[in-house]
Formats: sequence, C-alpha cells, structure tokens
Amino acid sequence: MGLGVLLATGCGIRAQEKTVPLKKDEISTRVNEILAQMTLEEKVGQMTQVTLDVIGKGEDRLSSYEPLSIDRDLLKKAVSEYHVGSFLNTANNRALSKEKWYEVIREIQDINKAETRLGIPIIYGVDMIHGATYTAGATMFPQQIGQAASRNPELVQRGAEITAYETRASGIPWNFSPVLDLGMDPRFSRQWESFGEDPYLASVLGVAMIDGYEGENNNVGHPEHIASTLKHFLGYHAVTSGKDRTPSYIPEDALREYHLPPFKAAVEAGAHTIMVNSGIINGVPVHANYDLLTSLLKEELGFEGLVVTDWADIENLHRRDRVASSHREAIKMAVNAGIDMSMVPYKYEVFFDNLVDLVKTGEVKQSRIDDAVRRILKVKFALNLFETPVTHYSNYPKFGSKEFEKASYDMAAESMTLLKNEENVLPLNKDVKVLVTGPNANSMRTLNGAWTYSWQGEKTPEFAVGYNTILEAIQKEIGKKNVTFVPGVSYVEGGRYYEEEKNDFDTAVAAAKEVDYVILVLGENTYTEKPGDLNDLYLSDYQTELARELAKTGTPVILVLNEGRPRIISKFERDMKAIVQTYLPGNFGGDALADVLFGDVNPSGKLPYTYPRYPNDLVSYIHKPSEEQEGAEGVYDYESHYDPQFSFGDGLSYTSFEYSNLELDNKTIDTNGIISVRVNVTNTGNRAGKEVVELYSSDLYASQSTPDVKRLRRFEKISLEPGEIKTVSFSLYAKDLAYFTPKGESLVEPGDFELMIEDLKETLTKTE
Ligand code: BGC
Repeated sequence: MGLGVLLATGCGIRAQEKTVPLKKDEISTRVNEILAQMTLEEKVGQMTQVTLDVIGKGEDRLSSYEPLSIDRDLLKKAVSEYHVGSFLNTANNRALSKEKWYEVIREIQDINKAETRLGIPIIYGVDMIHGATYTAGATMFPQQIGQAASRNPELVQRGAEITAYETRASGIPWNFSPVLDLGMDPRFSRQWESFGEDPYLASVLGVAMIDGYEGENNNVGHPEHIASTLKHFLGYHAVTSGKDRTPSYIPEDALREYHLPPFKAAVEAGAHTIMVNSGIINGVPVHANYDLLTSLLKEELGFEGLVVTDWADIENLHRRDRVASSHREAIKMAVNAGIDMSMVPYKYEVFFDNLVDLVKTGEVKQSRIDDAVRRILKVKFALNLFETPVTHYSNYPKFGSKEFEKASYDMAAESMTLLKNEENVLPLNKDVKVLVTGPNANSMRTLNGAWTYSWQGEKTPEFAVGYNTILEAIQKEIGKKNVTFVPGVSYVEGGRYYEEEKNDFDTAVAAAKEVDYVILVLGENTYTEKPGDLNDLYLSDYQTELARELAKTGTPVILVLNEGRPRIISKFERDMKAIVQTYLPGNFGGDALADVLFGDVNPSGKLPYTYPRYPNDLVSYIHKPSEEQEGAEGVYDYESHYDPQFSFGDGLSYTSFEYSNLELDNKTIDTNGIISVRVNVTNTGNRAGKEVVELYSSDLYASQSTPDVKRLRRFEKISLEPGEIKTVSFSLYAKDLAYFTPKGESLVEPGDFELMIEDLKETLTKTE
C-alpha cells in the first residue's frame, strides 16, 4: 500500500512530512535506472503535457460537463497508449474545491499507476500566480506588480510559502510562477503579472518568491513546497507594438543588461523549471531558438531543470509564425532547440507520433530525448511524486485560515502607493461624509485582476464571497450612514474588458455636492494575454469625464486607481486632491485601502514602474541621457524632455523622512573591490512610518555604449518611530556597476560614478 493510499483513507495525517527528500546523487541514480528501462514511446510520452479538459467527460476536448468528472477511457488512452507524463490547468476555466482537486489528481495518478508498465507518476502543473488561483477558498494575494510596490522581500516570500501550502493542499506540486519578465511597457496586457520595470528589483523579489515556493535548499519534496516556473524566458514584454505575442527586437546588450538578470538570479537560486517566451525575438520565435534555450540557458547559465513550452507554442511555429512548413517540422525545431516538455495542450497524438518518428529517422537525436526525459524525471523525483503522487487536503489545516488572510492583508497594505496628497488631505477623519463612485468601487473582480478563479477573472464574483469591496470596506470604516454610493460608470456585464457604460452618471455628480469628499475609484476591468491588448493608453473617456465633472463640483476628489497598467490620467490629474494607486491588491485590498484612506495604515508602497504622462512618451526610468535634453543653451526650446506623470520609486507617506550623512568607506574601487555605503534616515514627522531606502548609481561616461542615466543597485525597507534615526548600509561591488557592450561583454571601466540616495550624492572612482 503506497503512502498516498494511506492518506486517502485518512490514516496518514502528517505522515507525509516524515518523508526524507532524495539527495541529488540519489536522484541521478534513480533517474538513470528508470531511463534504462524506458522505450522511446515512454520517453516521448513523458515530454507530453495535456490540459485537463482533454480527459474530462464532455462533447469535445475544449470543455467538460459540469460537474467535472474524468472520462476513464480517455485517461487510459492518454496514459497507457501515449504515456502522457503531465497534465495542466483546471477544467472549464473554473476553480475547483481542494477536495475536487484531490479527487481528480488521485484518479489520474491511480489509473496511470495501474495502466502503465513503469508507473512513473504524473506531474500536474497550474498557474497559482497570486495565491492558489484555481482553488476555491484559497488566499488570494496582491498580484506581483503590487507585491513589487511593497519593496518587502520577506512579505513576498511569506506569500509564496502560503501559496505553496495551499497549492499542495489542492494536490498540486508544480506552479507556473513567478513571472520574471521586465514589466517595462505600460501598454502590455501582462505588465501587472511582473515585478515592474527594474531588473534588480525583479531579481531580488523573484528569488524571494522562489524561496517561498521551493523552501529551504529548494526542498520541493517537502509536502508544503512546490516547484516554481520562471517565465517567460526571455524578453517577453519587450514587444514593439505593445501587444501580446508580437515581435520584439532586442539587441544582445539589452537582452543581457535588462532581461536576463532576474532569470540568472533565479537559476542560481535553484528554481526547478522554466517556461519559454511565446513571442519572437529578432525574427526568431523563442521556441525555435537554440542560442537562447540551449547555449544561453542550459549551457551558459547551467540550468539543470525542465524547460516547458507555453500553451500550444510548438504548433505556433507552424500555424502562427510560419518558420516551420508543417507541424512535424515545428516539433523537430523546438525539441532540437532545447524544449523538454510540450504544453501541447489538446492534440497530443500529433506531438507524440511525430516526435517518435523524428527520432526513428534520426532527425531528433536519441540523446536529446534522453536529456529532456532526464530533466523531467529529476523534477518528479525531487517533488517526491514517486512516494506521494498526490498530497491530501486534510493535512493542510491552515488552508484559507485567518493567519494566511492576515499575510495577504499585510502585503496589500504595504503595496498601497500614495502618489499625491495636496495639502495633506489624507488621511481623512472618520466622521466625514463621502461619496464613493467609479466602476471599480464595488467589485471584487477588479480588486483581484485576471488569473483569479478563472483565466480572465470573470468568475470572481461567484467565488470571492465574504470579502470586502472598496465600498464595503469604507462603509465598515466610517459607518454606512456616512457613505453614499453611485457608480457613475460601470463595465458592461459580459462585455470585453474595455466596454463601459454610464450608470447614474448625473446622480453621481449631483451627490458629490452633498458630501465632504469624493472617493473616486477608477481603473480597468480584468484581462490578460491577447484579450487584454490595448489600443489607447488614456484612461477611458467615460471615466475621464466622470473625474472632470466631479472635480467641477468643488468637493475635494480623492482618486483611487485600481488597474493592471498605468492608464494615462493627465487630462484630469491636476484636479485631483490626492491619488492612491492600489494596483490589483487581491481579496483584502478593499480593507487595506480603507485603512490607508482613514489613517490606520501609513502608506509605504513605491511605484515599481514609470507612470507615463502622455501616450507617445513611454520612456522608462532606465533611459539614456539623450532622453533628457531640455533645449540647447537657449537656441532651441525642445518640448520632448523626460517628463513622466510619476517616476519609478515615487510613493509618499503620512510622515516625513530626512536623509543625511551619505558616506562611502572608500572613494575608490578596483575591479574586484567592494565598498560600503551608509546613510542616516530620520523620521521627522509625528507618525511611525516605513521607508524604502534606495541606492542608485550613475556611470558618468561609458565608452562602448551611452550609459543609463541612473540604475537602482540596492534597497531596504525600514520602519521608524517619530523622531527615530537609523543608519542603513549597503555593500556594493565593482561588478554591480558594470554594463554590457554591444557585443554582449560585461565591462566596468575606470572613471567616475555617482552614488545617490534620495537627494544626496557621492562620487566613487573606479581605478585601472
Ligand atoms: C500563458 C502562461 C501560462 C500558460 C498555462 C499561457 O497562455 O502565457 O503564462 O502559464 O498559459 O496556463
């Protein structure tokens, strides 16, 4: 009787935790033993990943009957005839209960074990990207962009630990998260899935998230940890058009300077799997790019884990990108480029039959297949799936607990970013009367964003019950009688994410005249991937009109933004008294925001991206000196200087901080050198507060490539009581100041660098 069966009968409570993880060399031995017994067909089956609907009872492969039940014949065919080694996703694009997940995965593992010669366990993977997305009752956290605003790696790690726990409570060992793409394009439909536009910030928070998912020493065999997936390797968001899965042109130096560092840090942190960018770089689809997948990732970075495709992306080499004249050719290209597993996800027979044939004809080498299968089996052993093919929900008593909810609330509270606060209008007193208005004011769906109980987030109202919308949280904070609610504008029920209608527009404007303050909650409805492509970065016309009309009443308007990307607000920003960015703060975002508005929480979030002022001016904070020309000595008056609405790192507090005594322990540094940078920070206001201390550097001259104006090199979040002073110190290596030349070589040249913290500056000289 296997351990899993013990658990299923309820006898093995917590027995799983006693399992000792296999050591690296033990895993290698076991993998080699199994590999030696496998037929070509069994190997190719391991490389095949299929979506759950394919084996659900239903009319076709695209959807299943409700309630979901597994079609045993379809499952048997997949695992015994085609040796399918992996399944993914939920069915009917709908979250399941943890009990249902257990039933589904238990059945898959049992039938697989009974019907296959070697009984190699299935690896099940799901996108649990801000909490266990596809499990009803799980703890939903702020999306990554808000987590980045918190600048708090401990909270990021804690959130990932909880997600890992709740994912295992759902019987699932593999998570398609974190996103390590640079969120450097405000037009892109997935910017909110990233940690924002800075490579260093994404590296630090990415590693924290991996540590949370995978646990100490990447012990993913522990029943409360899971394998993470770095995605989407590489350069996914850097598209010319701003639209999902369209071409990118990225020179070697930019690829290495900006896009690679978070992935490199995550590989060094031991992450087990990686997913490939669905797009095209310099004309070559990444799924067919040997240089990126094999030379760079597997050889240069030394990645030893599993490389999985994105959804249907081998087929896309033929059907979408037309670099392969047939599906068979596409499979050959991708596998030879370095793909280990194909997220097929529907017609797995085509992948299987063609790949078997390609090996028989010698077009794909047996050694390439062995390498791929070795990587897959290693992850299966590391996850302890041979011992425990499915974890049981009854071993996870903290699932959806108050303790976990508090962690989500804390993250939401630390992510709230106060962008403007004229005349210190915030925090508000609790005895005021307010109008709450705007399409995002009373919606759990928009608080969470997409990848919440369903892909596009449209099923959130069905599942997110018992949590507070922004309106409900404000009512709790100051009493219902002090709150008037009129939507003014609403999203069209069942419409595309950008479809809006007026909803008691004039009533909202009239109501503004009767209250002390207007809390105007604007933003976007939920979207991701292609359905979230955008044609106009300005915030919608109806929302803009609502903001302007409300401001005309003379009642002070507090603008609350609830959006996945920075939609342009310059047409009415100056009429707003205060602005709070909430991003997509999750199920406790309403509570956290209300606590910020009424002073129970002192905001401490910092923008993780540049907030543009104009649609034709999307320059990120990482830019070249030529972006800052303000007119040449009075000869010309250029209008095109760098002028974002808000800068990367912006974020106000209800208290004030003063920086002093910036000191370097050494004013010079050699190539292998290290220096220490210290600064004093004082809370000069009368409230306790948290401050993010950021160290930037500027390379004044760089002979091979015009330097970036400034770059974030270190940060630390500290808490200070009123009047308290703290010294923060950072260590900095010469190699932290290096840049990549157009040939892709890393270089740190002799010369002067400026080191900046707040408005303090010191010069550091790199010697020969
Ligand atoms: C997305 C990935 C995701 C995968 C599996 C794709 O469409 O691009 O981020 O992990 O689907 O759900």
